[in-house]
Amino acid sequence: MKIENLRDLFVTELCYAYDCEQKLVKKGLPTMIESATSPELRRALDQHLQETRNHVSRLERVFSIVGADAKTKDNDILDELTSAAKDMIGDIDASYLRDAALIVGGNKVEHYEMAVYGSLVSFAQQLGYTEAATLLQQTLNEEKAADAKLTQIGETAVNPQASTERRAA
Ligand SMILES: [Fe+2]
Repeated sequence: MKIENLRDLFVTELCYAYDCEQKLVKKGLPTMIESATSPELRRALDQHLQETRNHVSRLERVFSIVGADAKTKDNDILDELTSAAKDMIGDIDASYLRDAALIVGGNKVEHYEMAVYGSLVSFAQQLGYTEAATLLQQTLNEEKAADAKLTQIGETAVNPQASTERRAA
C-alpha cells in the first residue's frame, strides 16, 4: 500500500504493531515463560501475557475507530528480536543466567514497543482520534511498566543469583 498521508502511516504502523502483539501472545511470551527459572520472572511474564492479549484487542478497537481493516504486516524487527532471543535461550541451560538473558531480550522488545506506541499515540492525537489515543496510551503505559518490572526483577532476584552461577574458571 502506498503511504500518502499521516493516516496511512498511522494505519501501517498499527498493522506492524498488530503482528507484533499477536506473535508475542502466540509464541514469544509463552516460550519465555517456559524458559524462565525465577518464579518472580515467570509471574511477571505471565502477567504481561495477559496484558498483551488486551493489547491485541485494543488494537482491534483502534482499527475499528479509524475505519480500517484489522490486518497484520510482517514485523521483521520483532522476528529478529525473537530469533536472537531464541538463539540465546538455546545457548544457556535453564538457570538464573538464562533468566538474565531472557530479561535482556524482554527489555529489547518492550523498548521497541514503547517506540511504536509512543508514535502511535502522537499520530492518533494529531489525527483527532481521541479515543484511539487514550487506548494506545494505556498500552504504552503497560509496556513501560513491564519494562521497569523486568529490570527490577533482574536487579533484585535474577542478577545476584546469576552472578554466583557458572563462575568463569
Ligand atoms: Fe504489548
